Amino acid sequence: MPMRIIMLGDVVGQPGRRVVHQQLPHIRDRYTPDLILANAENIAGGSGITPQLYQKMISYGIDGLTLGDHVYKRKEITATLDQVDNLIRPANLPAKAAGKGVMTLTARPGRAAAGATLTVVTLLGRTYMPMAADDPFAVIDRLLEGLTPDAGPVIVEIHAEATGEKIALARYLDGRVAAVVGTHTHIATADAGLLPRGTAYITDLGMCGPYDSVIGRRADRIIQHMTTSMPTPFDVAEDDPRLCGVFIEVNDAGHAAQIERIELKADLDQPPFADN
Ligand SMILES: [Fe+2]
Ligand SMILES: [Fe+2]
Repeated sequence: MPMRIIMLGDVVGQPGRRVVHQQLPHIRDRYTPDLILANAENIAGGSGITPQLYQKMISYGIDGLTLGDHVYKRKEITATLDQVDNLIRPANLPAKAAGKGVMTLTARPGRAAAGATLTVVTLLGRTYMPMAADDPFAVIDRLLEGLTPDAGPVIVEIHAEATGEKIALARYLDGRVAAVVGTHTHIATADAGLLPRGTAYITDLGMCGPYDSVIGRRADRIIQHMTTSMPTPFDVAEDDPRLCGVFIEVNDAGHAAQIERIELKADLDQPPFADN
């Protein structure tokens, strides 16, 4: 039975949460996904995640959430990271870092592939990244070796700045995992496609958040900072919220049959953006 998966890019602040909430029903109607994933590292005011916001995203119908370099920006998430099995931090952090780097999700009853499993891993890149991390190539090799057949197909998220590092990891994993998807830059790339040995790939999913901004923050504040080098609050922007991500279909061999980029603008005349 093929699996149909939606993976959304970094959800940024309230505009990101709202566009995900508003557009997910349309995504479900159009793609009938078995599992829906999202990166939530920027969901709490643009940086980190709280237990309440984790619950909110799950209540919207997201099955699994990943985090990146902002994983620990909100300390109150630490206990949740250790308790729940559908929220992961980068796998290549120190062994004693709170949380887990791998999750195996099961498609819920009522979905076409109900009962089927999918394993998700997120890795931090090391080039121009603000958080120290172990070699993502060695870490994913070790993790893949340790998986049992009931882990199902594997999706690897590479949370990194440098395009070359992301592409290199994808080519390294081609044929061994169903998909490699990039996050962290908040700018979607136009290279969604299938690699030669059957792994789906995109360098960056783009963010779910306000596009009238500098990668989600108010442009005036960023420009102020860049033209003065003085501390400036980087408030989350508000306008032009969009949802960005991909739809991936995985075949029975655990390879990708297709990948399609998704970009949906919020309908600002409808809830939760407008009361009616
Ligand atoms: Fe991010
Ligand atoms: Fe990030």
